[in-house]
Amino acid sequence: MTVHYYTSSSLDGFIATADHSLGWLLKQDFDEEGPMNYTEFMKDIGVLVMGSSTYEWLLAESEAWPYKQPAFVLTSRELPVPTGSNILFREGNVRDLFDEIVTAANGKDAWVVGGGDLAGQFADENLLDEVWVQFAPATLGSGQPLLPRALDVELLEVAQNRGFMCGHYRVLKSEN
Ligand SMILES: NC(=O)c1ccc[n+]([C@@H]2O[C@H](COP(=O)([O-])OP(=O)(O)OC[C@H]3O[C@@H](n4cnc5c(N)ncnc54)[C@H](OP(=O)(O)O)[C@@H]3O)[C@@H](O)[C@H]2O)c1
Repeated sequence: MTVHYYTSSSLDGFIATADHSLGWLLKQDFDEEGPMNYTEFMKDIGVLVMGSSTYEWLLAESEAWPYKQPAFVLTSRELPVPTGSNILFREGNVRDLFDEIVTAANGKDAWVVGGGDLAGQFADENLLDEVWVQFAPATLGSGQPLLPRALDVELLEVAQNRGFMCGHYRVLKSEN
């Protein structure tokens, strides 16, 4: 199973403002049939993993839960569950959850939706394989970080989608 972190970011490496706003991103124009689009990416995804801030943002912003796939939500808190969803609340080290995530993916790949630290938790355990970033034509100056770890990555693919600069990278795993 391949573990992907697929996200949009400001040019200066933030995926949301400090107060979790995505207004700067949602006002941008993105060709949903263009390079590195979400629909193509999702064809290989069997399971989602996200932190609680991302989950709460989705709950607040979505009329109906948008995913058919099982979604692991990492949290230490009790959170609401939307109807029609397959939410699995877990906490602790992602290595300890990994077998369960693989089983839930049912032969497909995993998407770490965010935030950046959660992608970093997978990287810490050498479990993060690929990073896809659509860099929006905006800077934020501060906010929630894209991937707050020191990692070496290899650029596999680069594309322009309207104003976005899209990069697809492979994570170069550490030896230990
Ligand atoms: N630009 C984009 O495309 C994009 C994509 C995804 C997300 N976002 C946004 O980016 C922001 C990310 O927020 P964030 O940086 O706060 O990250 P987050 O991963 O969404 O949420 C972090 C929280 O998740 C819980 N958590 C994380 N790992 C855990 C673990 N191993 N065990 C138990 N709980 C764990 C903790 O909260 P509790 O234990 O208190 O619940 C932690 O404070 C959100 O606003 C989201 O909407 C943007």
